[in-house]
Amino acid sequence: MELITKAPKGTRDLLPGESEKWTAVENVMADEARLNGFAEIRTPVFEHTELFLRSVGETTDVVEKQMYTFEDKGGRSVTLRPEGTAGVVRAMLEGGLFNGGYPQKYYYKTTCYRYEKPQAGRMRELHQFGVEMFGAAEPAADAQVIAMAVSIFERLGLWGDVSLAVNSIGCPTCRAEYHKALKAYFSARKDELCETCRERLDRNPMRILDCKSPVCGEIAKGAPKITDYLCADCAAHFEKVKSLLTAAGIPFAVDPGLVRGLDYYTRTVFEFPSAKFGYALGGGGRYDGLVEEIGGKPTPALGFGLGFDRIMLAMLEKEDAFPEEGRAEVYLAPLGEAAAEKAFLLVNALHRAGVAADTDLCARGLKAQMKYADKIGAQYTVVLGENELETGKAQLKEMKTGKTKPISLGEDFIDAYLTAVTSAEDIGF
Ligand code: HAM
Repeated sequence: MELITKAPKGTRDLLPGESEKWTAVENVMADEARLNGFAEIRTPVFEHTELFLRSVGETTDVVEKQMYTFEDKGGRSVTLRPEGTAGVVRAMLEGGLFNGGYPQKYYYKTTCYRYEKPQAGRMRELHQFGVEMFGAAEPAADAQVIAMAVSIFERLGLWGDVSLAVNSIGCPTCRAEYHKALKAYFSARKDELCETCRERLDRNPMRILDCKSPVCGEIAKGAPKITDYLCADCAAHFEKVKSLLTAAGIPFAVDPGLVRGLDYYTRTVFEFPSAKFGYALGGGGRYDGLVEEIGGKPTPALGFGLGFDRIMLAMLEKEDAFPEEGRAEVYLAPLGEAAAEKAFLLVNALHRAGVAADTDLCARGLKAQMKYADKIGAQYTVVLGENELETGKAQLKEMKTGKTKPISLGEDFIDAYLTAVTSAEDIGF
């Protein structure tokens, strides 16, 4: 029995109290997306497995170890998305969105699924905010996308807890030379590598660079650096990105060991590591070959994904990050059945006028109702008893000051209420 009352390992519920905070952060991100001209896109939670094999890459940890892959009842292999980019590219191709003029800019808030060992900041159901831009090859696009993520961290008060690391991992031309150098380096120490990395040596030696095994990690430290193998075009692109970031006053560190864990990246890659938390709160980069790989025309593209679970952990540590917000502006406290019916009608009228209002639905006494009004943070209350029903007048009470003001319960109730609360100061609250 215990099993069915416990969320599966690596997942969690967002309960009221916290869920509002997530929404507040989502709204900041969506607003930043709006400022930068990104429109929202939503794609399915599961895709054909092949999509991730082709995009994320067969020799990545994500594909080799972390995917939730299963056969559906029709015998098709499907996978819960481990990340958001591949599905967006697939949706763009299917929806014919590539014909709509460039650049195309999309953002999404999604859940992703990775079978990882859960710990603080590492979930099996993880939440990401991501953006993807298509059709822009210029370094200014890289700088803009990075600046957008920086701005989100600034607005959330997290810039400082996170920093920016950038690198260029070149294009297939420079990568061919680099792979040779890596292979030579790792082959000399092949016996020390973990089993997975020994297999990666021939197929995709760059993946050894982000192996989690401490031994492979130690060996990787001395490996040749991609930045020494960049072709002239890739080197110039990277220089321009860096100079634009500098011009925009965005501090960054070049990390030649930064290769990212997904295969689709080309040229600029970046992450937002946090020394304080010991992991990255986001990452992204260019993926100029992915659209073609999935079946479209060659299209430069880039984007980032921010780790929502990690951002929220960082935000919840901050005092005052989330001002308390009440769940109702006004609470109507009826005493008795007739008053409860009147309160029901008034609350409905308030809702139609756009006012957050609540009343008793549990036939409670006045004391219990006032406790509830306090709990939901109501700024105003109105008690409705026999007397009030008879006279058609009641007292609107401001909870903070205890001051009251007469208010009509008749046809003009909404007008009277709105006037009273919008000019609360003038009328002597
Ligand atoms: P990623 O680096 O794999 O990139 O994930 C982005 C962010 O998601 C990470 O920096 C981290 O904050 C968060 N994250 C990843 N795994 C977990 C986990 N198990 N639990 C909690 N948070 C996690 C991508 O997914 C790319 N699609 C980003 C991108 C978009 N690149 C270009 N466009």
